[in-house]
Amino acid sequence: MSIDTEIDYGPLTNLEGVWKGDKGLDIAPDPDGTERNPYYETISYSAIGDVTNAKSQVLAVVHYRQIVQLKSNDKIFHDQTGYWMWDKKTGIVIHSLTIPRAVSILAGGFHNGKEQSAGHFILQVSAALNDKDWHIIQSPFMRDNARTTAFKQQLSVDNDTLSYTQTTTVEIYGKVFEHTDQNELTRQ
Ligand code: HEM
Repeated sequence: MSIDTEIDYGPLTNLEGVWKGDKGLDIAPDPDGTERNPYYETISYSAIGDVTNAKSQVLAVVHYRQIVQLKSNDKIFHDQTGYWMWDKKTGIVIHSLTIPRAVSILAGGFHNGKEQSAGHFILQVSAALNDKDWHIIQSPFMRDNARTTAFKQQLSVDNDTLSYTQTTTVEIYGKVFEHTDQNELTRQ
């Protein structure tokens, strides 16, 4: 799918494409402490057009699918999908994501849409259970046993290099755990 040039995707413009990276590091909770998982992944972003809400808000939308595999045995150990959205009028950036542990997040941030320099931009979004705007929804089991209380992410694209860092705060095994993921990917 090629990007629709009629629509201004602002800071999302350069996401389009298939990206691969093998420098991933996941720090995940474990009953005995911490699990460190080196990983590789593919993220496919497609610009899917715009939507109008209540006849007034226009969001430019990019859909993605992220497949993460363990370096040690090639097993898929994280599968995520969602949308990045940008509201040109207000500069609000929204990242909605769902993971198959029955957890969904709607994280928000801001980008004025002006490129920081050609081909380079940074997106920052966050959500928290106690945030007044940007929330987390989870199943009763996860709420009671592995509760996600906060999420923050920074994603930067510099021409054909994409890197991200994210922290998911999880209350699990009787403690508060900072579950982190980071990787650098190249456009294929
Ligand atoms: C590249 C991204 C991610 C990777 C590679 C990843 C990987 C993992 C791994 C390996 C575990 C430990 C599983 C286990 O030992 O049972 C885990 C746990 C968990 N992750 Fe992630 N994760 C990622 C992103 C996320 C995100 C975005 C969220 C929230 C939406 C999240 C929520 C959780 C929760 C709640 C747990 C605790 C479940 C448990 O250990 O029983 N993760 N993750």
